Amino acid sequence: MSLQEEINKRRTFGIISHPDAGKTTLTEKLLLFGGAIQSAGAVKNNKIKKTATSDFMEIEKQRGISVATSVMAFNYRGKQINILDTPGHKDFAEDTYRTLTAVDSVILVIDCANGVEAQTERLMEVCRMRNTPVIVFINKMDREGRDAFDLLDELEEKLAIKVKPMSWPIGIGASFKGVYNMHRDTLNLFSGNKTQIEKEIVEIKDLDDPLLNDTIGDKDAEMLREEVELVNGVYGDFDRETYLSGEVAPVYFGSALNNFGVQELLNSFVEISPTPRGRISDKGPVEPTDKNFSGFVFKIHANIDPKHRDRIAFLRIVSGEFKRNTFYKNIRLDKKVKFSNPTSFMASSKEIIDEAYPGDVIGLYDTGTFKIGDTLTTGEDFMYKGIPSFSPELFREVQNDDPMKTKQLEKGLEQLTDEGVAQLFIKQPGNRKIIGTVGELQFEVIQYRLKHEYNASCSFMHRPHHKACWITSDKQAEIDEFVRRKSMNIAYDKEGNIVFLADSPFLLSQAELDYPAITFHTTSDFKLD
Ligand code: G4P
Repeated sequence: MSLQEEINKRRTFGIISHPDAGKTTLTEKLLLFGGAIQSAGAVKNNKIKKTATSDFMEIEKQRGISVATSVMAFNYRGKQINILDTPGHKDFAEDTYRTLTAVDSVILVIDCANGVEAQTERLMEVCRMRNTPVIVFINKMDREGRDAFDLLDELEEKLAIKVKPMSWPIGIGASFKGVYNMHRDTLNLFSGNKTQIEKEIVEIKDLDDPLLNDTIGDKDAEMLREEVELVNGVYGDFDRETYLSGEVAPVYFGSALNNFGVQELLNSFVEISPTPRGRISDKGPVEPTDKNFSGFVFKIHANIDPKHRDRIAFLRIVSGEFKRNTFYKNIRLDKKVKFSNPTSFMASSKEIIDEAYPGDVIGLYDTGTFKIGDTLTTGEDFMYKGIPSFSPELFREVQNDDPMKTKQLEKGLEQLTDEGVAQLFIKQPGNRKIIGTVGELQFEVIQYRLKHEYNASCSFMHRPHHKACWITSDKQAEIDEFVRRKSMNIAYDKEGNIVFLADSPFLLSQAELDYPAITFHTTSDFKLD
């Protein structure tokens, strides 16, 4: 198969939602419809199995949240679908943001009773920054929820994106009868069924077909006709280009738990979703069809097996063909590396692969050299942009509780922060270590993992900072002056960049006023500009 054909075959996307909207259930059902798993419940079972093999996952079990981002690949209708799962919990938002750099589109799951929730808004902001195409799945239609028009209004308003309903629900909750597919003129009738892939589809000629009345009754048929007329008037026709450019989100209604609307979603997804896209590097855009292989690391998972200190780096392939046992250049280290056992993430099993193509995510074993954001190429010198570190919002100073294990503590902190669990800043005098996170939970994760994976103990001392800002200026003298005057709030990131730890929004804007020649960056993106 040619490179172009391999590219055309692939679809790489993420499912995002506020916790509990039904992301796990939908993922599982997509795998079920894709033939990748045989029975419902497998994804959750798998989650539990993983928990048993890894101590760290104990936290996930206890909290009932998905800490780790995983990748699941399966074949459907001649396409290779790669689903990148993302943790819904807000404390792991950074992990999710990074994963979103590795997908070409997303499916956003909304709970029909709760509508747009806080975490949905934040995730969509990241999608909008990158013009990622979005499909919305309004879930739990078997439960009492909000009016469909209301939900669509809220989506447009809170997510700042236009919507286009592709199907329309008939009733909701106890009176939910199914959905009408506006493109195919079909009725997909609902029957609560959690275990089987049953579908009852009635084809009608158009909305005037008397079969509609015979099937759902006169009252609902009349209501459907009225609503669809209104929907068509308000939202117009679906235009794939506006979806691909991230301006319009097609919307589907269903119930993942009942396997309802999932097949329709999957079929439409393979029809309309984008093939793997290129990425922007610091030397310009790179297209997937470029012959030379390139890719970037967006996630690192360490110590999957605590007995072997191995790490697995998740690499998204951007261009060309990846081959096993071939030397590629890690640009940051200026070093050639090769991989003898790269793995794919087929949902059924993890297997060693000989080659992989744009859109694929592969797992590379390494012993601690990779960092998030690393670029691999066949030799060209460029770095992919856009895996920013956002300013943390919570800060703690690390206290070593077991001085005999100082080395282990340092190594653990170094590796865990390479993985992106949190950010590490060094403060002088005394090389004090400040950890910055976006959520409380990460401190627990760090403590737990230091103990279980590195045999080191630490506690944390609260630091009253509000934000970490990277500072740059054309005028070195002004930077020097600032560092001297604000020495109490100056620290350095792992690459040695100067960071201002502002104690409050007021003090940050004051510093901006007092030092106009200095730019204060709240993401680390500036490094690549
Ligand atoms: P998440 O990954 O987004 O956090 O959500 P998850 O799929 O775990 O779903 C959250 C809860 O919502 C689960 O119930 C799940 O069964 C339920 N759910 C998902 N889709 C639907 C749907 O279409 N209709 C209804 N009525 N419920 C749905 P739970 O009680 O928390 O878990 P479980 O005991 O069922 O596993």
